[in-house]
Amino acid sequence: MRKLVFVLLTASAMFAGATPGVAQEADVTPGQKLFQQRCGACHQIATTRNGVGPNLQGVVGRAAGSVEGFNYSSPLRASGITWSPETLETFLTNPGAMVRGTRMTQRFNKADERRAIIEFLATR
Ligand code: HEC
Repeated sequence: MRKLVFVLLTASAMFAGATPGVAQEADVTPGQKLFQQRCGACHQIATTRNGVGPNLQGVVGRAAGSVEGFNYSSPLRASGITWSPETLETFLTNPGAMVRGTRMTQRFNKADERRAIIEFLATR
């Protein structure tokens, strides 16, 4: 019996290893999902490609307006902000109130969603 359990465990471990796509699917956090839904149309995070907005790879700790090759608004480039969980929280709540004249105008009103998205950003 013990041997059978061992064989089954080994077989399921091998199966899991052979299907990384399935394993990744299960690893998607609520923050990652929300990011894809709320930000993904304009921002890339898995690659350094820029879209309507700049890529957000490593955004926590980054100086605002600093992605090479992205055509920022002058107010954002000149803002002097360093992105941290706190500054991101203020920005996402109302970008235009923090950086008057920014081209990112969408507000994100749900505090729990902002928190989850910022937690996700901090892991990239
Ligand atoms: C409709 C498109 C759009 C959506 C949706 C959007 N953004 Fe943006 N975002 C932009 C644009 C455009 C800029 C550049 C603004 C500027 O230059 O003033 C920007 C800039 C930013 C910046 C500053 C980056 C830097 O390099 O300084 C952050 C941070 C950011 N967005 C986070 C987010 C997050 C997080 C979400 C989702 C909750 C989001 N954005 C949703 C268009 C968007």
